[in-house]
Amino acid sequence: MKKNLAIFAVLALFTPFFLIFLGYSYGYHNYKKARVQPIAFTHKIHVGQLNMKCTQCHLYADKGPFATTPPLSVCKTCHVDQGVKANSPQIQKLTAHIQGKLLGELPPETEGQLAHAKIPQTIHDILKKNGTNLSEKSTVRFVSSNEWEILDGKKLWTVKKEQNKLKLYSNKPPYIEWKRIHRIPYVSNVGFTHKRHVRYFLPRYLQQILEKKQIKDFYSLPSSQREELEKQALKQTCYQCHGQVEQMTIPRKVSPLKMGWCITCHVKHNAPRDCWTCHQ
Ligand code: HEC
Ligand code: HEC
Ligand code: HEC
Ligand code: HEC
Ligand code: HEC
Repeated sequence: MKKNLAIFAVLALFTPFFLIFLGYSYGYHNYKKARVQPIAFTHKIHVGQLNMKCTQCHLYADKGPFATTPPLSVCKTCHVDQGVKANSPQIQKLTAHIQGKLLGELPPETEGQLAHAKIPQTIHDILKKNGTNLSEKSTVRFVSSNEWEILDGKKLWTVKKEQNKLKLYSNKPPYIEWKRIHRIPYVSNVGFTHKRHVRYFLPRYLQQILEKKQIKDFYSLPSSQREELEKQALKQTCYQCHGQVEQMTIPRKVSPLKMGWCITCHVKHNAPRDCWTCHQ
């Protein structure tokens, strides 16, 4: 009986600590959790193997507050126009997002009508067959000599000339809803901007690389070499906050993005720490 009581006492004493530990370790490890994305894109191939530059896809990482995920036109240049891995089911899914769903083929005379911005009867017919009646307000927009858009309110269809045939595609949205991984907890209107951070760190990392390689006159190097060095410096700029994405199958957070994390670095680099720098 005394023994049982002792065990009970020990349990009673340590259970709260154990629960706190569990909760803490859950919260601590949870932010590292990766997410399943609509398409199995990976930085391992595109950055690790192909050595692409971060801003080739994250177009605004050095220009604005948000880095942004890439427009599908970037993926299109390789996976549709050049047919890279076109047979892979993942790329077929990607292509379906880019091209929309094929609704039907149009007779060649349609081209003239589209050039004159009239919506031909054949298009009305095909869409009706698919359950849509175009409204009076619908219009045609010229995109390029091989492509037109048909707009009806917010809905969109495209006509494309492919191998001398005209094809009508559905209004599938031309973007992929990637699940967002990094997001500052929504409190107190915190304003984070990539541009300021990237522009601060990029030249400093470049300087470090040049010193390490003992390069004295950067501007005397051939432009291809300069670009390569800048690419490496940009990578390191992103990696200090995001970790080495080129080694991750799916990016995950390497930091919980809490206030302490921001402040620690601001202290280290003597950046502003007034509350209103970050809380607007
Ligand atoms: C070929 C295009 C491409 C290149 C090049 C690229 N990325 Fe990405 N990146 C994506 C796509 C697509 C996503 C969204 C899918 C995902 O999360 O994997 C993404 C997601 C991310 C995310 C997670 C965003 C979030 O939701 O929080 C980070 C961080 C990131 N990229 C950093 C980088 C860095 C750093 C580089 C350069 C070393 C880089 N990327 C190069 C296409 C690219
Ligand atoms: C510079 C050319 C290029 C661009 C731009 C590009 N990719 Fe790729 N992608 C490749 C190459 C090359 C491979 C590897 C093909 C192989 O394994 O042989 C690949 C592989 C992939 C795979 C894996 C396919 C599989 O089944 O193995 C996916 C998914 C993918 N890319 C998605 C994307 C997405 C989404 C974008 C736009 C954000 C994009 N790619 C932009 C060249 C590119
Ligand atoms: C000083 C730290 C820091 C640096 C450097 C940094 N990021 Fe970020 N990144 C963040 C934070 C914080 C968020 C979440 C922002 C939010 O919630 O608004 C984020 C979000 C993102 C996202 C998803 C949301 C978005 O903005 O579109 C992408 C993609 C991304 N970063 C890519 C990059 C790339 C590429 C680079 C390098 C060119 C880079 N980041 C450099 C801290 C950083
Ligand atoms: C890796 C280090 C680092 C991290 C992490 C970091 N910062 Fe910064 N931040 C800096 C540096 C350095 C500057 C100063 C840049 C300059 O002088 O141009 C700065 C500047 C800023 C500025 C502009 C200050 C001004 O004068 O207006 C804001 C806002 C800001 N950071 C917000 C944040 C927030 C919010 C976070 C966390 C989500 C964060 N930072 C995380 C290094 C960092
Ligand atoms: C370098 C950027 C930065 C500075 C400077 C900063 N904060 Fe924050 N603060 C953040 C970020 C990012 C968050 C959201 C993430 C979190 O909850 O930790 C936050 C969250 C908070 C929260 C909400 C916490 C919660 O969990 O609800 C309070 C309160 C706060 N900050 C107060 C302050 C005060 C007071 C100052 C000035 C002494 C200050 N902050 C300076 C970045 C900053």
